[in-house]
Amino acid sequence: MTAGSLRGNEVVRFEDAGRSRDAVLATLEEMRAGDADWRSGRVPLYVFSGPPDVQEIGKQAFNLFFTENALGARRAFPSLLRMEQEIVGMGLDLFHAPEGAVGNMTSGGTESIVMAVKACRDWSRAQRGDAAFLGNIVAPVTAHPAFDKAAALMDLVVRRVPVRADLRADVPAMAAAIDGDTIMLVGSAPCFPFGVIDPLEELSELAREHSVWLHSDACVGGWMAPFAAEIGRAIPAFDLGLAGVCSLSADLHKFGFCPKPSSVVFYRSAELQAHQEMVFDVWPSGRFATQTLVGTRAGGAVAASWAVMRYLGREGYRRIAHEVLEMRDAYLADLRTIPGMVIRGTPELAVIAFGCDDIDMGKVATRLGERGWIPGMVRDPPSLHLMMSLHHAAAREAYVRDVAASIDAVRRDASVRSTQAVYS
Ligand SMILES: Cc1ncc(COP(=O)(O)O)c(C=O)c1O
Repeated sequence: MTAGSLRGNEVVRFEDAGRSRDAVLATLEEMRAGDADWRSGRVPLYVFSGPPDVQEIGKQAFNLFFTENALGARRAFPSLLRMEQEIVGMGLDLFHAPEGAVGNMTSGGTESIVMAVKACRDWSRAQRGDAAFLGNIVAPVTAHPAFDKAAALMDLVVRRVPVRADLRADVPAMAAAIDGDTIMLVGSAPCFPFGVIDPLEELSELAREHSVWLHSDACVGGWMAPFAAEIGRAIPAFDLGLAGVCSLSADLHKFGFCPKPSSVVFYRSAELQAHQEMVFDVWPSGRFATQTLVGTRAGGAVAASWAVMRYLGREGYRRIAHEVLEMRDAYLADLRTIPGMVIRGTPELAVIAFGCDDIDMGKVATRLGERGWIPGMVRDPPSLHLMMSLHHAAAREAYVRDVAASIDAVRRDASVRSTQAVYS
């Protein structure tokens, strides 16, 4: 069998005899040989890397707690409980949390967002005294689809509002979309499509004016933006220091450089967080109460996140932020040398989108794919996309050269199929 050779849900013979350790590992290596070469920076998203020593300590810590289950942190693993409390506590320090703010770890950005939406929905129900109330969420078009996933799970509606010319949330347009059923406003720090941070300060004012919940989605930028600010980069306010921000999601497994799966969702107060909890009390086994969508949680991910954060400290994160942003600047400078190239908006961190408006960028993506790159894409406006960390540094010259050559090829001969922007 070669990697990817199954068509889908075929029956696969479940062999009676187990294979040898060597055979199993050899097959894994063989299958991996067919994967895209992310280590050389040829994959535009999915993988985030800090320096090798940071990867290493994350792996070691993960392996130390490989078998432990964070679901049992309170009853059986006080070590994991303490680590999680310290991780959340460091986040509260970093994100200018007011007295009494709280948080908990989840398996990723989507779960953090689903939990924040659940808390907001149930808080809104309690405010209205209507246990069946179904409201709407007002979000810029650039917000992550995790909000729609949460809304689909909870029968809520998401109203997506066009963004300004600079690709950031249009606050007056969002204000116009609010009605009596609106329970949540969303801003991203930054948004995935363009890497720009929404005007969360203004959104905070708007949320307070209408007494609605504001979620700051800092899944991508949360663990990098504060350090970028500390080294003198211009970063707009986005965190719990803004009085209207009721919840904030920040993924450690992205620019926190921690192993997957790891994210944190923060709440302004324990009273808001209380609505996140799911309690089931008519089970033969007894009372079941969790703060997360999942039950069992990888103890390794908690230990690895704690280890990476303690190993790096603020100083280490500042160093990585500096390196990543210098690399981002170099990418932008090189891309700007390509005739007709437009950088979409003014990205604050290391997520960028760019394209030429006179040609079909889907065709450019096809040509780039032929040159061995997985093309990151944005549909509107048609662009290429990169979410970069340290392993992208060495690829810069080759990447920009191949983007330029692909654009040139499409300008000379447009008779090539256009790749669609699909994330699945
Ligand atoms: C802005 C933003 N929010 C949320 C998410 C969802 O994160 P995850 O893939 O960890 O569920 C992403 C993923 O890229 C994102 O870019």
